[in-house]
Amino acid sequence: MIEGRDMTGGPVKLRYGLVGGGPGSFIATVHRMSIAMTGAAELAAGCFSRDYEKTKATAAELGIAEDRAYRTFAEMADAEAKRPDKIDFVVIATPNNTHYEAAKAFLEKGFHVSCDKPLVFTVDQAMDLVKTARAAKREFMVTYVYTGYPMVRQAREMVKAGELGELRVVMAEYPQDWLSEKLEDTGAKQAVWRTDPKSAGASCCVGDIGTHIENMVHFVTGLEIESLAAQLDTFVEGRPLDDNAFIWLKYKGGARGNYWPSQVAIGRENGLKFRVYGTKGALEWEQENPNVLKFAPKGEPVRLLTRGNGYLGDHAKRWTRMPSGHPEGLFEAWATIYEAFCNTIRNHAAGAEQHPFEIYPTVVDGARGVKFVNDCVKSSREGAAWIDGSFSG
Ligand SMILES: NC(=O)c1ccc[n+]([C@@H]2O[C@H](COP(=O)([O-])OP(=O)(O)OC[C@H]3O[C@@H](n4cnc5c(N)ncnc54)[C@H](O)[C@@H]3O)[C@@H](O)[C@H]2O)c1
Repeated sequence: MIEGRDMTGGPVKLRYGLVGGGPGSFIATVHRMSIAMTGAAELAAGCFSRDYEKTKATAAELGIAEDRAYRTFAEMADAEAKRPDKIDFVVIATPNNTHYEAAKAFLEKGFHVSCDKPLVFTVDQAMDLVKTARAAKREFMVTYVYTGYPMVRQAREMVKAGELGELRVVMAEYPQDWLSEKLEDTGAKQAVWRTDPKSAGASCCVGDIGTHIENMVHFVTGLEIESLAAQLDTFVEGRPLDDNAFIWLKYKGGARGNYWPSQVAIGRENGLKFRVYGTKGALEWEQENPNVLKFAPKGEPVRLLTRGNGYLGDHAKRWTRMPSGHPEGLFEAWATIYEAFCNTIRNHAAGAEQHPFEIYPTVVDGARGVKFVNDCVKSSREGAAWIDGSFSG
């Protein structure tokens, strides 16, 4: 743990442990590569799979000592807590059904936590993690990575500065096509667990990508949902969870929104996009062209703002790594949220305040996302009824 380590010689390199990331897994590798990009932390321990032989093989591949390759995440939390060279934080990159128990186990042993989304299954579990993290005074990131893009941070700054005026309408979508056939029947593991309520939770499409829309819109606009109505559908026969949804929103203050997550939209890949309209202007951004932000000030020609230029705000400048014209992408966005998280852990240990640029998605954002997913499922089961969608964290 960083507390008690000599910090006089400059920034201390943090140590972290990884839960998930066994052979053939997807997102844990992205976590590892982006953390490496920051240079802020190194992998020291892991429980990479439920199968210990696979965990040992992955540990050997990644150069992790055998005594720090663990059979279970509970054993890892316990054993690491007793080591003088213990990890500072844990990364949880397993299917959704393991997040709650794993996060709780590490928080209770005093570790900072980075957990993937959706945070957990139920609002009670989510609020329990919020409470536990606060009581333990631990940092807790939920990896809503898209908030790490510089031009998304630019959009947020522009909304905050009032450049759009009063917000009226939000249109946001996240269409994909990878589940437009019954991929789960081929054994593709990412499809198998996402379409199974036991491992994914009450929703596939809203839980997996609708939650990214909700987080993105909240991050950029600060709008709080007042009520929502949702229609969740399953187009692929025999699939027990949703693969498409339409969600209508009323925000506090009078703005209105419309979200469309889909996993059956042929030709669409990772098309996360938002359009925000206010009384003075509008903004538009899409994940597949992330270095560009379209700004339409009322009565003036539409402008394309591009990353890396001097006319951008401080947040976009702070998180730009390459000069303009050299594209930055998803790995850099991951590195940004991890760098902010690691710097906050260091500041925390040194008794310093969190720097205003060092924003990362927190456990409260994760809990808001869980409430949103559950509200959408509830509304849809009630025939797309309008229900209370408010959240207080
Ligand atoms: N933030 C994002 O943009 C983003 C993107 C993709 C996935 N995700 C989230 O990341 C998580 C993992 O998704 P994925 O697609 O990488 O899954 P995956 O199936 O590719 O990998 C999951 C890994 O976890 C391991 N695992 C399962 N249970 C375990 C346990 N109890 N202990 C140790 N290891 C265990 C599996 O063996 C596997 O190696 C999910 O919650 C998903 O929603 C987030």
